[in-house]
Amino acid sequence: MKASSYETGRAARNERAILVGHAQRERAHIERSMEELALLADTAGAKVADQLVQRSGTIHPATFLGKGKVEELKQLAVMRDADLMIFDDDLSPAQVKNLEKMVDRKVIDRSELILDIFAKRARTRESRLQVELAQLEYTLPRLTGMWKHLERQAGGIGTRGPGETQLETDRRLIRDRIRLLGRRLEKVHLQREQGRRARRRAEVPAVSLVGYTNAGKSTLFNAITGAGVYAADQLFATLDPTMRRVELRDSLSMVLADTVGFVRHLPHQLVEAFRATLEEARLADLLLHVIDASAEDREDTTHEVEHVLTDIGAEDVPRLEVFNKIDLLEVAPRIDRDESGRPLRVWVSAKSGAGLALLREAIAERIGGDM
Ligand code: GTP
Repeated sequence: MKASSYETGRAARNERAILVGHAQRERAHIERSMEELALLADTAGAKVADQLVQRSGTIHPATFLGKGKVEELKQLAVMRDADLMIFDDDLSPAQVKNLEKMVDRKVIDRSELILDIFAKRARTRESRLQVELAQLEYTLPRLTGMWKHLERQAGGIGTRGPGETQLETDRRLIRDRIRLLGRRLEKVHLQREQGRRARRRAEVPAVSLVGYTNAGKSTLFNAITGAGVYAADQLFATLDPTMRRVELRDSLSMVLADTVGFVRHLPHQLVEAFRATLEEARLADLLLHVIDASAEDREDTTHEVEHVLTDIGAEDVPRLEVFNKIDLLEVAPRIDRDESGRPLRVWVSAKSGAGLALLREAIAERIGGDM
């Protein structure tokens, strides 16, 4: 098992993909989820050829979709000359195997697609280690299926066939690698921790930008700090926390950190692997939760972000909501406050710069006042 096979993702550039969904919940939800899957596929470099949604029925344990739908998918794959099926829901290793056999095409799920994007985006040593770790952990339980044919050939009672041995070897190699990566990451985390302590000693409040992917965190980070961080209409442009010191007013500065964006069904292996990066958010003095105010599903995505924040133990960190992209709504910039006059939400446009002065004022009030 070569380590290099994990470094490049599976969705190669320009592969033609069919997106597949199952509407278990209400209809509107699946539509938005499929739109997002299309954006994820595009970010991974695949070309969306078509999509197929099963609108009724239960989940079939062996093939996820019902028999008729699998047949439909097979025909669609031929018609659209597709190389790849991307499922919006997480599939079990057995489901992937069965579907690949029946449709005769590569099948991946949302988690694998996200892992693939992360693998392509990871720039620093730390995020590369984190992504590789997440990919290995995703792969480990899926190894068995790959060797089934060899196990069958080996056959016989009590024989330890070559397949089984190979599987055991691969498992051990992967487990070793996971341990090694874990140790290396541990070192990087210690370094990060030291940096954090130094900042605390200097008493510079730490403020972290969090938010759903594409909410405009990097754009806002650039607008506030004047730094040239990469912002793009693609998902997960930011994997590594970027930090800058910013003067808010006389004798008050902050260290502002941009963090990785969140997304629906973020694979739990990734949440685990990026826990340290996300710690930036857990240990912050104030979180700026950036929300795309123009997005139809902003309540859903806000909820999703809150969910991940709870997951990483950041639920008690003070929040300031930043409603971004007001240029698309033609809303004037303003600060919303609670009964006691404390800023709760600021309406801005990171792109046009509208409301940024108000945002700085609100941050200064919160970190000057709360601390
Ligand atoms: P991730 O890296 O995926 O987490 O995304 P992000 O939250 O950092 O978003 P990013 O800053 O990359 O912006 C996403 C898209 O929204 C880009 O195309 C931006 O140009 C656009 N955008 C950001 N802020 C605004 C805004 O105030 N108004 C408008 N109209 N577009 C904006």
